Amino acid sequence: MENNLYSQLACKMTAQIRSGAITVGERMPSVRQLSKRENVSISTVVAAYNLLEEQGWVEVRPKSGYYVRRQVRESLQVPSTSDVHSRPVIATTSQLVMDVQREVTKPEAVSFSRATPATDFPIIRHVERTYTRLSRTRKHLGTGHTNPEGPYELRQQIAHHAVDAGVAVSPTSIVTTAGCLNAMGLCLQVLTQPGDVVAVESPCYYGILQLIEAYGLKAVEIPAHHETGLSLEALRLAMEQWPLKAVLSVSSFSNPLGCSIPDERKRELVSLLEQYQVPLIEDDIYGDLYFGERRTRAIKAFDTQGLVLLCSSLSKTIDPQLRVGWILAGRYFEELLHRKFLNMLSTPILPQLVSAEILSQGIYERHLRHAREAYRHRYLRLVDLVSEYFPGITKISRPQGGIVAWIELPRGVDATELYHYSREHDVLIAPGEMFSLNKQFQHCFRLNYAHRWTPARENAIQKLGQWVAERVVLLQSQ
Ligand SMILES: Cc1ncc(COP(=O)(O)O)c(C=O)c1O
Repeated sequence: MENNLYSQLACKMTAQIRSGAITVGERMPSVRQLSKRENVSISTVVAAYNLLEEQGWVEVRPKSGYYVRRQVRESLQVPSTSDVHSRPVIATTSQLVMDVQREVTKPEAVSFSRATPATDFPIIRHVERTYTRLSRTRKHLGTGHTNPEGPYELRQQIAHHAVDAGVAVSPTSIVTTAGCLNAMGLCLQVLTQPGDVVAVESPCYYGILQLIEAYGLKAVEIPAHHETGLSLEALRLAMEQWPLKAVLSVSSFSNPLGCSIPDERKRELVSLLEQYQVPLIEDDIYGDLYFGERRTRAIKAFDTQGLVLLCSSLSKTIDPQLRVGWILAGRYFEELLHRKFLNMLSTPILPQLVSAEILSQGIYERHLRHAREAYRHRYLRLVDLVSEYFPGITKISRPQGGIVAWIELPRGVDATELYHYSREHDVLIAPGEMFSLNKQFQHCFRLNYAHRWTPARENAIQKLGQWVAERVVLLQSQ
């Protein structure tokens, strides 16, 4: 029996499992069948199966044969919950944030660093065609500033879609914005003064930390659990201790953990807000990108006192270039409108009209169904690749939706170093230090899995894994 032959056969079988040609729980071809089909000896097949078993791809069931195991994907553990009890600190975000934002313009680089949606979905062509048509048929230039609240037809569509998240809202209480981050910035301007304290999830989307820095606020970081999101127990303690002016939460399929606060806990969270009369800025930008059977409800769905300001946009579901976002402003409508007017008078009308039209058509729902399925598969492929190329002690988040995964390396392996190394090799990642105001996530990083897997993207994950494996060996030898 040739050494190479059985490992080649094992590789071939692994590729079939990966491609989905043989699925989890399915019986593999019998030893005899495989030997005949591949024209190799029985002992070569047995050796190949032994290797696959050792690597965790298959399991033997007595008197029945070899079956594909599920454990390959589940063998990696989930990231730990932050245990840091943070005090309010003045937000100063890392210079890395701007470096990461700017280098995505490098055309030769393979980028996993920014949370951008896929570009290979047909909706993009549809948006382009709608732009072309509306720019010819609808008057937009030469009309002066439009109403700061945004065109009614768009607000009507936003109100219509909010019902899916369990929110009943009138179009007249919605303000459109230039994206979700702009929406959250306007909310912070209305709710806070420089020096105030706000609570954020930890790890936290770095854009939120940058807003907090821009408005001269202090942030207290509340641990988020990889499955259930924001810790309500820690939030209650923070509310007791600090004069919080607002809480910010990416409530469904957060960035970077991909976690969601379960609906029951959302109800509890609203009771807590009511008890302490603290408003919450909800970022629901990933809410439509769920992998499960149905959409989770927004925190806003449980809000009866108007304490929740829901912000979102089309940046993750369609394209960030649209710069179309909104706020379900409720009781803060007038103040938010004024803020928007002070900041930018109004937002460009054409992208808003295009968005209104897209949202009114069945194509948007079809696109979402397709995107959810594609993202779920692309995430599973990422887990396969991380399982294959990273050391077994690597942890990876289990997002139930959205487009990003959080990787935790053994403590001591520095993800910022990995970022610098991989950037030299034209592979871009988002290092963990960007997601907190203290150094607690130095061994973590975030990867975007939205984009179609290509050999170049797969090789990039292999390179990252090899670097980490070398670092782990080095650490162990010290
Ligand atoms: C959680 C979250 N909120 C907001 C944004 C920014 O959204 P927009 O492009 O609509 O401003 C992002 C983008 O990465 C995000 O991940």
